[in-house]
Amino acid sequence: MFQSDTHLPQLLAPVHYSDPGLLEREVQKLMMPAWHCVGNIDDLSQGKECYRFELFGKMYEIDGARRSIRMAATPSQSRSDRLYFSGRVQVVGKLVFVSLSNAGQSLREFLGTHYDYIRDLFGGQWQRFLVAPQIVKANWKGLVENILESYHLEEVHKNTFRTFPSADVCFHDLHDSWSGYTERNESEHSHLRGGVATISRLLKVNPHPEYRHIIIYPNCVIARMGLFNWIQTILPITPVQSMNYWQFFFLRGEKKNPVAWATSELLKNWGRRFFMKALEEDNQVLEGVQAGLQSVSHPKGGLISAREERIFHFQRHAAEQTGVVPVTYATGRDSAMKWSGTC
Ligand SMILES: [Fe+2]
Repeated sequence: MFQSDTHLPQLLAPVHYSDPGLLEREVQKLMMPAWHCVGNIDDLSQGKECYRFELFGKMYEIDGARRSIRMAATPSQSRSDRLYFSGRVQVVGKLVFVSLSNAGQSLREFLGTHYDYIRDLFGGQWQRFLVAPQIVKANWKGLVENILESYHLEEVHKNTFRTFPSADVCFHDLHDSWSGYTERNESEHSHLRGGVATISRLLKVNPHPEYRHIIIYPNCVIARMGLFNWIQTILPITPVQSMNYWQFFFLRGEKKNPVAWATSELLKNWGRRFFMKALEEDNQVLEGVQAGLQSVSHPKGGLISAREERIFHFQRHAAEQTGVVPVTYATGRDSAMKWSGTC
């Protein structure tokens, strides 16, 4: 069930989704102190000396042996620039996290109560089967808000996820630095029925029955759904372009027999098709929403429903951290609400 029983105000105005000055503050205040998942331990250990990744428009590389970060070599960069730069690299479960800041929270502090959960969820029996870096023409906050709607599946993924939970089995957790969503329905909407139950028997694994989705602010999103889980890192590139970096895992288990091997191959292939189609559905919506925000005839004002209260919670966190003055509503004779948010 939800924590609000009424509508909440939309705190951010359309201008907050395309403003270069605000993005600069968001990078400094929200992104730089944070840890970002940019890969999997296999990326560092499959005979590679270094692993490249991009954060906020610059390319970096991880030194796999030393577990440190340096600037990637580019024609415009001197050797001293590369050597002087350093950041932090830490691994939890099979996930590689980086921070471009040498001070501040450790990864354990950043993940807080989720540290052990993430270590186990992306640990031993789980195997990565799909990496999908997606560049989307939308502001990074749009990508975050898209996955915080509890009716996201009905609205965006009608053709992929075909069954949807009713509100009475959906629960929200709202905290200072994160929010969560859990579906608690083990019969009608269980993720463990039918084919999932059969595959679980063949692989001899026991997936968790509850769907669980969390975001650790600003941009680390983790979900568990039966035989699959995923981590999504949302990174701004420009005010109107972002990177959605997805890594999907499945519960492979430890059985090495031919049946388990064949079953896991089928599951991986099905998972790749299913999730790539779902990401395509998301991207189409996101680019349309961004175009609407930038159009001259965007809607005036707006409310957030109780089912979307995680969006309100995220907007409040982002506004507080970056000094954005939230939208206030001027009510005219016709009661139409007007935006008055500033950066
Ligand atoms: Fe989605």
